[in-house]
Amino acid sequence: MTRPAPDGPVDGPVGAPVPGAPAPDGPAPAAPAAPVLELRGAAHRYPHGPAVVEGIDLAVRPGRALALLGRNGSGKTTLLRLLTGSLRPTSGRLLCAGEEVRHDRRGLDRLRRTVQLVLQDPDDQLFSASVGQDVSFGPLNLGLPEDEVRARVDEALAALEITGLRDRPTHLLSFGQRKRAAIAGAVAMRPGALVLDEPTAGLDPQGTERLLGLLERLRGDGTTVVMATHDVDLALRWADDAALLTPAGLRTGDAGLLLGDPALLEDAGLRPTWAHAAADVLRAHGLLADGDPPPRTPQQLAHWARPTPAADRP
Ligand SMILES: Nc1ncnc2c1ncn2[C@@H]1O[C@H](COP(=O)(O)OP(=O)(O)OP(=O)(O)O)[C@@H](O)[C@H]1O
Ligand SMILES: [Mg+2]
Repeated sequence: MTRPAPDGPVDGPVGAPVPGAPAPDGPAPAAPAAPVLELRGAAHRYPHGPAVVEGIDLAVRPGRALALLGRNGSGKTTLLRLLTGSLRPTSGRLLCAGEEVRHDRRGLDRLRRTVQLVLQDPDDQLFSASVGQDVSFGPLNLGLPEDEVRARVDEALAALEITGLRDRPTHLLSFGQRKRAAIAGAVAMRPGALVLDEPTAGLDPQGTERLLGLLERLRGDGTTVVMATHDVDLALRWADDAALLTPAGLRTGDAGLLLGDPALLEDAGLRPTWAHAAADVLRAHGLLADGDPPPRTPQQLAHWARPTPAADRP
């Protein structure tokens, strides 16, 4: 799969310096790549309402998996819409690959070549008569040649395992099928960053596993993935970084660290992760050293729980 470089400019000037490239007069220390997306001091208030989010500093680093968590109404959807340009911050700024995004037609067109948002409710996203038409809408809008559009649609339908639904009217699909069709539409754009609002809500366990497998494959191709979820266990298993909306503001950092902090989870209206509860039991039985990370999956737990030498543990 070829896709726009996740950390490159959307369609920046030809010959612009590549971050980390050696300087003409000798090797320069590699500069850290700019975040794919970044909100700086962002706030949003809907008309006639109080600020929903305020003072948001959030950097989405290239190639990472970031989970956004918080209670109902805490502002996850609002924040994802700010991050993808579909809402304009009432104050603060949005940057894409280090460049400030202008919320005009041209700026947003450029942003959408890099970033795709999959909405929480697929019915807000699907509007064409059939699945195939819906998935082809974005690539057609990019002005791609017909065979390229066909290739992308085939690939996206296959990735979501809905090739057989290509000609089905979207309004006759089940909820989970509609959700997959909506994700396929975003995948067909081959975005550098894919932002998903509660993508596993309403999917059956197999559907969730398949989706996680797809996200892993996309990440293998260099795609940055952001996901809002209420599922702390899934976030711990899947994410590199986490962002938690709490009444005191947004807390960001390493997913393992933040999701292992019971007080922070309580502030964010979340329950403790299954993995940290299991780690407490393992530690109490001397099977996990203090400071070692908890198992992230049941398979890891099963392996850990066997009395094997520390060196053989995952
Ligand atoms: N279009 C809108 N107009 C006015 N208020 C809105 C609008 N959309 C959301 N809100 C309000 O903004 C707040 C945050 O909503 P948001 O949808 O971002 O929360 P959320 O964390 O995604 O919730 P959930 O977990 O239920 O999806 C809520 O109080 C909501 O009522
Ligand atoms: Mg929401």
